[in-house]
Amino acid sequence: MNYSRNVSIACAAFICLLAVAGGRAQAPGRSVWEGVYTTDQAKRGQQLYGQYCGACHGDTLGGGESAPPLAGAEFLSNWNGLTVGELFERIRTSMPQDKPGKLSREQNADILAHMLRANEFPAGSVELNRNTELLKQIRIDAAKPEGKSK
Ligand code: HEC
Repeated sequence: MNYSRNVSIACAAFICLLAVAGGRAQAPGRSVWEGVYTTDQAKRGQQLYGQYCGACHGDTLGGGESAPPLAGAEFLSNWNGLTVGELFERIRTSMPQDKPGKLSREQNADILAHMLRANEFPAGSVELNRNTELLKQIRIDAAKPEGKSK
């Protein structure tokens, strides 16, 4: 007589478990505030940015006539809570807009390092990786998360 109730409790518990497991699998472990690129890498990226992105997005990443800014509050609110991996893929597959896919993974990682620097995230001692799955472990937090000291 309590069968259907038990089933629904079991189902609820199962769904809850799935949510926890799924959440854990996806939750990026690091934040852009933890020093995820190096200053040298960002400098290389600045060169590439000037060559391939600046004409549309502005030399200081402030945006151009038709292209949106890649630094500042508006940009960060678009990407807040997403990962560096997702941003990397967005750039890798759709930019430069006049020649998508033209740049190598290394070049895109360097450009991304320059973008992180321009958005005032701290540099660290290890370069930003060019592997999308690893980059998906790094969360874009517009504001510094509580309890992170670096
Ligand atoms: C020919 C002009 C042009 C060039 C060159 C170009 N972009 Fe873009 N970019 C755009 C336009 C226009 C948009 C908005 C429309 C769209 O999303 O495709 C955009 C959108 C973007 C976005 C999404 C912004 C957001 O807030 O979601 C990113 C990131 C980006 N570009 C990065 C780059 C990078 C990095 C380069 C250099 C490798 C680059 N773009 C080169 C025109 C350009």
